[in-house]
Amino acid sequence: MDYKSIPKIELHAHLNGSLSNKNILELHQLKYQGSDQGINADAYKVQKELPDLTQCFAKFKYAHELTDVPERLGRACENVIRDFQEDNVVYLELRTTPRATEHMSRETYLATVCEAIRKCEKTCPGILVKLIPSIDRSKGVQVAEENVELTRKIREKYPDLIVGIDLSGNPENTDFRDFRKALQAARDCGLKLALHCAETAGSVSENLEMLEFGMDRMGHGTFMDESLETWKMLLEKRIPVECCVRSNLKCGSVSSAENHHIRKLLEAQHPVAICTDDSGVFDTSLSSEIELCAKTFKLSRDAIEEITLSTIDQSFASPSEKSRLKTLVHDFYRK
Ligand code: IMP
Ligand code: ZN
Repeated sequence: MDYKSIPKIELHAHLNGSLSNKNILELHQLKYQGSDQGINADAYKVQKELPDLTQCFAKFKYAHELTDVPERLGRACENVIRDFQEDNVVYLELRTTPRATEHMSRETYLATVCEAIRKCEKTCPGILVKLIPSIDRSKGVQVAEENVELTRKIREKYPDLIVGIDLSGNPENTDFRDFRKALQAARDCGLKLALHCAETAGSVSENLEMLEFGMDRMGHGTFMDESLETWKMLLEKRIPVECCVRSNLKCGSVSSAENHHIRKLLEAQHPVAICTDDSGVFDTSLSSEIELCAKTFKLSRDAIEEITLSTIDQSFASPSEKSRLKTLVHDFYRK
């Protein structure tokens, strides 16, 4: 099967983690007036498995240094969208954390990303893109609340583009309960919630709180089966799980592709989406993630079509957009 040729749906991709080496090089040259000096795009990638999440998070600093002004941030966004389109991704929910730098406010950051996506509607007509602003847990509660308010404000100008809120960032030394108010405010204004959850072992009580709070989709859910109670609740609530196999392997949270929790979820006929997380940092693509899952779990062509159609249902696209995407996928598999 030619995995690149199949129409794909990407629901979990972080902008600053999705920059290819080529993009990193281009942004570096833009920042340092054509100089290659000091460039080490490979330092940005996770080559081998890292011992923990914290070391993975250090990798994002490299991209963040290059997307610190609106011009380069916009370029990064356009390049990432083009790369996904080249991989035959027909629908993308891109997420990114509004980040203030010396040169721009968080508001400028978010507006720049929205404008870049708008521009791509013309330059990349083969891909429909939505935006999910992220809350970085490590930046604290006040910033989280401000980011929700900012998202609400900018969404007035881009109502069809901004569809949800993501909770991400390093979960170490943070408490989910602190973010409930901000997330509830997001939910109250009609934003969907896609929350990273159970990324590290030993967080059963937090996982329970998050399940009780509820969400529209769960990012990773790696350690949901650490307790029977959380596993059962996940299945009962049928919260779709965004599975990013190589990301989990390279961050050392899953020991092998065979042992990835997507296996148990598929066996339970639970809705899953196969995603990249950070295609640049983890040196992957959505085609490659689907191929890895297909080969590891012996997924037939029909099973891949079924997962793709389910992923469309899990997306935050409008009903008419979902129906158009389903027709496109259906037609491809009947060719
Ligand atoms: P950005 O939001 O576009 O800057 O993308 C990079 C950011 O996404 C990182 O700094 C993290 O906050 C977040 N991120 C990327 N991958 C993960 C993950 O696997 N778990 C939690 N947060 C992540
Ligand atoms: Zn993620």
